[in-house]
Amino acid sequence: MKLGVLVSGRGSNLQALIDGIESGKLPCSIDIVISDREKAYALERCKRHKIPYLVIKRKDFSTQEAFEEEIIKALSGVDLVVLAGFMRILSEHFIKAFPMKIINIHPSLTPAFLGKSAQRQALEYGSRITGCTVHFVTEELDSGPVIVQACVPVLPDDTEETLSERILSYEHRLLPQAVRWISEGRVKVMGRKVVVHGANYGTLPAN
Ligand code: GAR
Repeated sequence: MKLGVLVSGRGSNLQALIDGIESGKLPCSIDIVISDREKAYALERCKRHKIPYLVIKRKDFSTQEAFEEEIIKALSGVDLVVLAGFMRILSEHFIKAFPMKIINIHPSLTPAFLGKSAQRQALEYGSRITGCTVHFVTEELDSGPVIVQACVPVLPDDTEETLSERILSYEHRLLPQAVRWISEGRVKVMGRKVVVHGANYGTLPAN
């Protein structure tokens, strides 16, 4: 399965996909990485692993539609679009170009704490448990059908940084897992509900 990965920053989730592919656990290839920021560290990872990448910046286009058209063009031929820390909201136009073929990783248990700084939102709310979610992207922000989620405890001394780190270690297992399930043809979307054939929902994948 050919992946197109959209990033904006550090790219540790991109790295988790690269590691899964290089270790033979993920039967996929990353055909293109697109960043909306030229200084994204994710691009260093692309160089290191010889993965093709493009920088497509919103400010170089007069409209959101023209910006998205450029990304759509660059993604032609991919089977699945993975938003891995891509910090922009995509329009209905973009989402309709890849129906149920876009997934996103979000650092909360959706539908709690949507949008930016989900980890800080969990801390400010006083949640004892938060987590991360891989979901299909629909027009509702961070709220499409859930493929897989992991619970992560919020500890009394947590800062945004320590909580984000703890959640991230789960993200790095969840995202490759969801991509693998999709690549194996095991994922069916039935309205809001996602059925994963043969998956044990109670456990996280072994590292
Ligand atoms: C991750 O925590 C991801 O869940 C979050 O951004 C971080 C990217 O890290 N995404 C969102 O908040 C999207 N709403 P990374 O660049 O190291 O993968």
